Amino acid sequence: MLLDGALDRPAAADPAFRADVLAGLATRPRAIPARWFYDRQGSELFEAITGLPEYYPTRVETALLAAHCGEVARLVGAGRAVVEFGSGSSAKTPHVLAAVEPAAYVPIDISGEFLRASAAALAADFPKLPIQPLEADFMHPIDPPEGIARLPKLGFFPGSTIGNMVPRTAVNLLRAMVETLGEGAMLLIGIDRIKQEDVLVPAYDDAAGVTARFNLNLLERINRELEGDVPVDAFGHRAIWNDNEARIEMHLEAIRDVRFTVAGERFAMAAGETIHTENSHKYGPRDARLLLRAGAWTPLREWTDADGMFALILAEARPAGTAP
Ligand code: AVJ
Repeated sequence: MLLDGALDRPAAADPAFRADVLAGLATRPRAIPARWFYDRQGSELFEAITGLPEYYPTRVETALLAAHCGEVARLVGAGRAVVEFGSGSSAKTPHVLAAVEPAAYVPIDISGEFLRASAAALAADFPKLPIQPLEADFMHPIDPPEGIARLPKLGFFPGSTIGNMVPRTAVNLLRAMVETLGEGAMLLIGIDRIKQEDVLVPAYDDAAGVTARFNLNLLERINRELEGDVPVDAFGHRAIWNDNEARIEMHLEAIRDVRFTVAGERFAMAAGETIHTENSHKYGPRDARLLLRAGAWTPLREWTDADGMFALILAEARPAGTAP
């Protein structure tokens, strides 16, 4: 049952995209938020990334969900509204929905077109489940739709999307999720772990060049939507491990001196200069639990694969207790 409401909006260039790109190209170091990767093409390229041999997170997390959703269901109980943050293709969702006997499903994503298609596909597989997609940026607080407001909630935040945020932003988001989902809510979150650099870097710089296309699509999107003339062939994809910050960084590096125009504004980059386009933070077991606690979530149970590549954590929004 697909309850399609406030989704129909014209596909005009998002003024927030324009503002972020112009500001991000003008500051040093140059940086554009990773959320702008996900136009239709970018969302499709990300789906292709999830199937790459080097990109272990999707494979490992999906296996964890397949193996442990029964136990998740016992711990969370039936009748919750499942609220998924950054649902994308909703590829992992059927595992959760099939196990937890939810009262409703609310996928939230910024790529509206992609969200609608995925919600429709899920509706076919779960015909009796009320599904209410929300086209929104989940970084901002969200009012749960009417009819869902009073249900107990299970937040679902897979894929280590939390890793895209610097820790202070991640903590703000986790706290906003407590506000959105309410006290007593539970959260099932996937968090990628710190591991050897020779496993991490290829996951973000694959042999087939799909991640490079995903990164470069940001420049193509700028050209498409912001009247840009960025010479895309003058840029290279870079993925580096920043050990101090425990994150993979993706950059677009100018491979020669370039000048270009975006939305009427002129920019120049010298060969070797970069635009920082994404962070993907990784967390050790204690790091991940501390992050959740700092974000007002109490970890209850966690599951990991035999090699400790990726963690699935179930947490609960408990009222703050008295601390000594
Ligand atoms: C969707 C943010 C979890 O950081 O691993 C994959 C995005 N970027 N390859 C990640 C991504 C390049 C992905 N997340």
